[in-house]
Amino acid sequence: MTSDHQKIAIVTGANAGLGFETTLGLAKEGYKVIMACRNAEKANQAMAGIRRKAKSADLEYMNLDLIDRDNIKAFAAAFSDKYDHLDLLVNNAGVMAPPYTVTKNDLELQFDANHMGHFYLTSLLFDKLDQDHETRIVNVASLAGKREGADIFFDNLNFVDTYDAGPEFMGLKGMTAYSQSKLANILFNQELNDRLAAAGKNIKAIVVHPGASNTSLGRNMSWKLRLIAPIITPLMGITKPAKGAESSLYAALRTDVKSGDFIGPTGKKEYNGKPGHSEFPPKALDKALSKKLWTFSEKHLGVKFKI
Ligand SMILES: NC(=O)c1ccc[n+]([C@@H]2O[C@H](COP(=O)([O-])OP(=O)(O)OC[C@H]3O[C@@H](n4cnc5c(N)ncnc54)[C@H](OP(=O)(O)O)[C@@H]3O)[C@@H](O)[C@H]2O)c1
Repeated sequence: MTSDHQKIAIVTGANAGLGFETTLGLAKEGYKVIMACRNAEKANQAMAGIRRKAKSADLEYMNLDLIDRDNIKAFAAAFSDKYDHLDLLVNNAGVMAPPYTVTKNDLELQFDANHMGHFYLTSLLFDKLDQDHETRIVNVASLAGKREGADIFFDNLNFVDTYDAGPEFMGLKGMTAYSQSKLANILFNQELNDRLAAAGKNIKAIVVHPGASNTSLGRNMSWKLRLIAPIITPLMGITKPAKGAESSLYAALRTDVKSGDFIGPTGKKEYNGKPGHSEFPPKALDKALSKKLWTFSEKHLGVKFKI
């Protein structure tokens, strides 16, 4: 890598919450950041907001909707036409507990957007990440993927008739499906790391969880809860987005982070505190499960993720 190497990062869901803060942090470190967002207006507003905080930030918006496979393909093609390498891919975008929705890909929305879209995107960008110098993929999971009962429910992946059942979080239903999608992020990273190691690639795959931050992820909560959130969330140890983004930035930037690491806040209940190593839930160590998810994902997409 020469000294004039332009460091390029893609951050999905860069217009809000943790994606915004991750983009800001990377821009400050000299990365050119491609803000991969589904809404141009929101992306441009966020870009202006980041530039107010970091005047020289080198940013570009490119449209990406993770539940639209043609759009993901077009995004990867447009990026690949313009750039000859990618140093960092942050698979950050996510949705939590929306009203029950099955996408046009015939998948429950959270599984499709949070896992499948990122799996597809990563496979399409892989050649650009495969360089002589070290590059990184950061997958943003959640404590929800660590919670007891989190699983990949292959016998009813779409939660037909069961979506609203199961434990609620601040009045939100569909949390078991959210947990499934976030465990999928961890399992994807596990299998990706194994395959990268087997192929001797100079790419680190790191999975993170941000703890708990007050972002628009809770947009599906009742208006009453959203109204009082700024007051009650600090009392619960829920942090500001800049703090939540620290796990992703740690995974992206620290030289001592290894491929396959799981990074998260080390404070009380892992909600906040300095980033460090987080323990994998038992399900994440089930290699048969991570392989099964990989095979399922390839089959559903009709692609081979070549490493
Ligand atoms: N906040 C937390 O405490 C917390 C805890 C654990 C894990 N996480 C994870 O952190 C990540 C970021 O969440 P956040 O808290 O920053 O939430 P957020 O403020 O709601 O941001 C989510 C971002 O994802 C984008 N997005 C959603 N669906 C998309 C799609 N189909 N295609 C492209 N972009 C899409 C959103 O775009 P729009 O603005 O257009 O909707 C937004 O930019 C998520 O993966 C989430 O699961 C967050």
